[in-house]
Order: sequence, then structure tokens, then C-alpha cells
Amino acid sequence: MYRNFVLALLAASLLSACATSGKTNADAILDHKVDSVLKLMTLDEKIGQMVLYSSDWDVTGPSLKKGYLDDIRKGNCGNIFNAHTAAYTRKLQKIAVEESRLGIPLLFGYDVIHGHKTIFPISLGESASWDLAAIEKSARVSATEAAASGINWTFAPMCDISVEPRWGRVSEGAGEDPYLGSKIAAARVHGFQGDNLADPSTILACVKHFAAYGAPLAGRDYNTVDMSERVFLDTYLPPYKAAIDAGAMSVMSSFNELFGVPASGSKYLLTDILRTKLGFKGFVVTDYTSINEMVNHGIVANEADAGLLAVKAGVDMDMQGEVYFKYLKKQVKEGLVAGKLIDDDVRRILRVKFMLGLFKDPYLYCDEAREKREVYAPAHLDAELDVAKKSMVLLKNDSLKALPLKAGEKIAVIGELAASTRDLLGSWKAAGDWNFMKSTLDELKAFNGEANVTYAEGCKTSGEDRSGFAAAIALARRADKIVLVIGESCDWSGEATSRTSINIPGVQTELLEQLKALKKPIVVVLMNGRPLDLSKESLLANSILEVWFPGTMGGKAITQVLYGQYNPAGKLTMTFPRNLGQVPIYYYEKNTGRPIYLANPKYKSRYIDSPNDPLYPFGFGLSYTTFAYSDIKLSTNELAEKGVLRATVNVTNTGTVDGEEVVQCYVRDLVGSVTRPVKELKGFEKVAIKAGESKNVTFTITPDMLAFHRLDMTYGTEPGDYKLFIGGNSRDVKETGFVLR
Ligand code: BGC
Repeated sequence: MYRNFVLALLAASLLSACATSGKTNADAILDHKVDSVLKLMTLDEKIGQMVLYSSDWDVTGPSLKKGYLDDIRKGNCGNIFNAHTAAYTRKLQKIAVEESRLGIPLLFGYDVIHGHKTIFPISLGESASWDLAAIEKSARVSATEAAASGINWTFAPMCDISVEPRWGRVSEGAGEDPYLGSKIAAARVHGFQGDNLADPSTILACVKHFAAYGAPLAGRDYNTVDMSERVFLDTYLPPYKAAIDAGAMSVMSSFNELFGVPASGSKYLLTDILRTKLGFKGFVVTDYTSINEMVNHGIVANEADAGLLAVKAGVDMDMQGEVYFKYLKKQVKEGLVAGKLIDDDVRRILRVKFMLGLFKDPYLYCDEAREKREVYAPAHLDAELDVAKKSMVLLKNDSLKALPLKAGEKIAVIGELAASTRDLLGSWKAAGDWNFMKSTLDELKAFNGEANVTYAEGCKTSGEDRSGFAAAIALARRADKIVLVIGESCDWSGEATSRTSINIPGVQTELLEQLKALKKPIVVVLMNGRPLDLSKESLLANSILEVWFPGTMGGKAITQVLYGQYNPAGKLTMTFPRNLGQVPIYYYEKNTGRPIYLANPKYKSRYIDSPNDPLYPFGFGLSYTTFAYSDIKLSTNELAEKGVLRATVNVTNTGTVDGEEVVQCYVRDLVGSVTRPVKELKGFEKVAIKAGESKNVTFTITPDMLAFHRLDMTYGTEPGDYKLFIGGNSRDVKETGFVLR
């Protein structure tokens, strides 16, 4: 039982407050509850709420703080991350609630990025499903499992737009597009937080990494970010905004600098944009030791000043850095920091603890029986299998039609990744357990019969060792088809995994070249967490299936797609370049003064050694069937200021199997007070169409969807001519036009 006296005091003071102030609405009551606790707190206890320490179960950086149990006991630590299981979090919560003076419950944070125990596809993969309901479900399931294991706060969703495949963290986001990224960010927040944070199966979301962390120069993690304010506001900000609008109550300030100031010290970002412009009401936590790192950035001379900068900029909680713990009290006493500022920070944190229901029942999230029931529940595994299949993108399937595989065909399965379970989980494994899982090879054997599936490793994902080539080639010689599972190891994705090459590493492509000589159909199954340069592989393989890191049920999902039990419908959410030299490459580029399509290619914006266009554009993905698009019909050619325009196409499944298509709608603003992108996604719909059948798909365009930051930095539309495109990817589209009045 929650035996601390805080609750009793609360109840008493609440009654009198409501009676005297007449405030009855939920917000006023919540404010009052928060203030009732705040009133009891010493400065040390307040600062204790403003720190977050790792339990050391799992760390992503230097672990500075020892003896955190004692800090909890003394009221010097109000929040813990990297502790999970119902039993362990209960143990820590008990110390906070029963042994600290005020008994304020702890928040338990964890990186439940794409799953807790049941691990879903990496976020980039999941985004390729373009299926918002499935994405929301995956966050819902992750929250349910995490919440049963003591977690009440996830450090997700990551809302960083990125056009930088060298950056290993593109695996954690939703790709390059602000419109799709915003929809997905909102879906994830709804999934994690549900409608009611106090529901014991929901957890607090954290919008990260605020802001523009996805644009490090040269793709090097933690590097400087430098972009115009207009690009920031129009392209990078929308997904963070969407997540906040969806109700996310915490935001993480990022490692990087933007406009010359590190995010954790940026009043512009954390106050002017986040609180004033976006109306954010929750609390801001830093990324791991990012206050301390402001000394290295060279924006302050020492950690004490870093803390000052952070607290004044709007950071409420210091993750792991101990800066607030060490210096804040003295700074308040010396008048360098106003006590009111500290009170406001603590209020925001306590408010969320109340919203989570922790003051009512601090053990709400530590329920061993529920944990047993929820973790790896069959329905959760089904949801993961479903979204894993939906995330897969068929990049190539030439006239040989090596895919789908046919039952009974003899297949030679080759590649280290085919036999791995760990790699299927991707970069953030949270509490996921790869010993519980089946590999792709296991699942292929289970589906096609042991006798029809042979296996050789061939080579590792990295390194120069070719000693396994001969055995793999001998094996392949006896098979009908070759299934080569190659790509990156899961450790090559995520934080601190930047690359200067986006080739398939090691000697894997060399093995593919040698297998090609056998003249057998070759299916490449690609596992990776970033766009890769597939220019060689796309010529050598007959079929390529991009499976990302598909999660706990990944082996089964791959098998079902390879055998046509599920017709792939995923579409890329990041452009796949032809080569690294084209990076950054994204579909919403500007036209320039010398676009390539004009005559006389010499003095045009182009390369002399590579085409401009990518290998696989944004929105691209094939199916085992084909789709044909009619011309676009518009409800009107003129969109009035408060009007609506409807654009309709008829899509026909022209193949012999049922399939799904992600129909995409783009616009181009032809003349603006500032130059405008050649295309911008404004709508999409995933439709299931039976073989031989057609469906109409209609998009609704309203003027607010066409707003941008104009020359004078005001946000709004400009009248004029627009193009409108509809198609199955950002390159192959039908086109029409309209006028915005
Ligand atoms: C990462 C964050 C993560 C945090 C806590 C940092 O290193 O950048 O994304 O949430 O660690 O684990």
C-alpha cells in the first residue's frame, strides 16, 4: 500500500481548494494537486525530481552516477531509466515511496523504440508499411508489454527527418518525408499513450531528438547540424509538432547544435519554438549527458555554466549528467537561478506523474502477473508478424519471376544473416530475447521441408574471409534457386554507427557475383537499417526483397513473403541512391536554375559520372501483381481560399494475384516568393485490390495543406498554379494541374 502521508495531505487540501476556489475542471484540480506536493518539497527534493539516472542494466553512454539507490532514498533522484521487470521496478519504487521523506513515486524510462519483449521491425522498416493502424498497434503492444514490466515512460517516438543514409540512426525514424513522418509520429504517440495516461497499459511518450538531430553534417553521429531556419520549420519541425499535437507529454533535447547553439542550451528551441510556438505543456529531458557535452561544444567554459544555460533554456530534467545535482542548489542560493524557474520545472514533472496515475498507485506498472500474461502474448506476436510482412519492400523481381518461391523447390539458403536470430531484432532490442526466436533458415525449413532447404554461411556480413565461398557454391549448384540473405549486422545500425560507405559490407557482394556464374535464379533477401547502394546487386540478383530488421517473428514473416503467402506492398520511405556521391538525395528537392531535363546537358545541374536520379525513389516498392493508374480527375481546377479540391484516380490490379497498393498524391507549387520543392507528398492511401479489379482512390486537398514559410517567414499559402501528381511512387506518376485562388 502507498503509505506515505503525501496522499492524505493531498486529499485534505484538495477538498478545501475546490471548495474555496470554485475550480472544478480537471486541469485546475491537477494543478492544485501538483502545488500541494510542491509546497512540501525542499530545494534538494525539487532538484531530485529534475534528474534521471540509469540503473546500469543497459547503458548507451558513460555511466556516471553510482549509488542511485541511496539517492532515491534521500529524495535526490526522482527518475530512473534502464530498469525493467515488474519485480525490479517494484523494488526501486518501494524505496522511493516507503523510504524517502515525501514518498514521491519514480518514473521508469526505457528505450522501447520498436518493442519491449516482442520486438517489432525497426522504425524505418515499419514506416515502409505506410500503414498507420499497424504502426499504432505496434506502439500499443509495445506499451502494453513495457507497462506490465514496470516501465511508464518510453524514449520514443524518434521524429527526426533524415536524408542521410550514412547516419546509422535513420533506422530509428520514419524516413525523409515530413508529411508521412508527421502521420507516423502521431500514430506512435497514440499507440504509446492511448487516450488516458493513467490506464496501466499505456506509457508516456517522449518526442526525440529535439531538434534536427537527423541532419548531422557528413552523416557523422552527434555532428554539427547547419540548415536554414526555413528548412528547419518547413521540413524538420512538422513530425515533432505532430507528436506534440497528438498529446506527447515529454520531449528529449538532442545532442547536436542547431543555429550555433547545442539543443540542450537553446532557448530558441526549448522555449520559443517548443513552448511558445508549439504550445508544449509537458517536460523536457536532455539526451544522455548532453548538458555536460555543452562544454565540449564550446558554448560554455564549465559544467556549472552548462547547467545554467540548460535550465534557463528550458531543460526540466538532466539525463545522467549530474549537472543539476551538483550545481543547481548553489546557483539558486546565489540567485543565479530563480526559484520560480525550478518550481515550474518540477511542476511539469509532477504533473505527468499525476497523469500517469502514480500518486494513486505507485505500483500500477509493476505487476508480475500482468507481466507474465502480456509478455510475448500470442496476439502480440501476431501483430508483429503482420507489421513485419507489411514493412517488406520488393525492390526487384525480373522476368524470371524468381519470387514467389514455390513449395517443393530445392533452395540453397546462403548467408550469415539467414541463420541469425539476434540480427532480426535490429538496433534497439530493449528486453527482446533472441534465444526465444526462430531464424529465417529455421522458418524456411519448417515451411518447405528440411529436405528441400540446404544451408551454407558463405561468408560473414563483414570482413574479408572468403573460405566459405566454395562450400556455398557447391551447395547452390545442386539447388533450383538460391536465397542469399545479406546486408548489415544489426550492430551496424542505430546510435554511433555512421558509415562512410553505404555498400553491402565485406565480401558478400563478391559471393553474389560468384553465385551468379551458376546461372540459377538468385533471390537476395536484404537485411539492413539504412538505404544502401545496390547498384551492383540490382544487376546481379533476379529478385531483391528488402526486409530491414523485421523483429521477433521476422523469420516467419520473410518466409511467408518469399512463398507468396503474403503479397508484399511496402514502399520505401527513404530514397535509395545509386551511389554515395548522390547523398543527400531526396524526392522533394528544388528545381534549380539549370535542371537536367533542359537541352544541352553540359551546363546543367548534373554529375558527369552518374545519373541524377536515384536507383529506387521514395515511395517505391513492387508487388507480385501490377497496378495501372487512370488519368486524374479533379472536382475543380480552382481551389478557393476556403475551398476543397478532390483528386480521383482509378487503380486497376492488372495481374493475376490480389494485392495492395500505396497510392500517393504529391503537389508542386510552381511559383513562390521562395523557391518550392518539385514534389511534396500531401496524401496516401493503402488499398487492397483483387486481381482484375479496379478501385477509385480520392484525395482531398485544402489550402492549409499548401502552406509554407513565405519570404517574410510568415506561414501561409500563396495563390498561383500548382501541379498535382498521383502514382505508386514519387517518380512514376500521373499529372494534372490546378490554381489556388
Ligand atoms: C540516445 C537516446 C536514448 C538515450 C537513453 C542516448 O544515447 O541518443 O536516443 O533515448 O540514450 O538510452
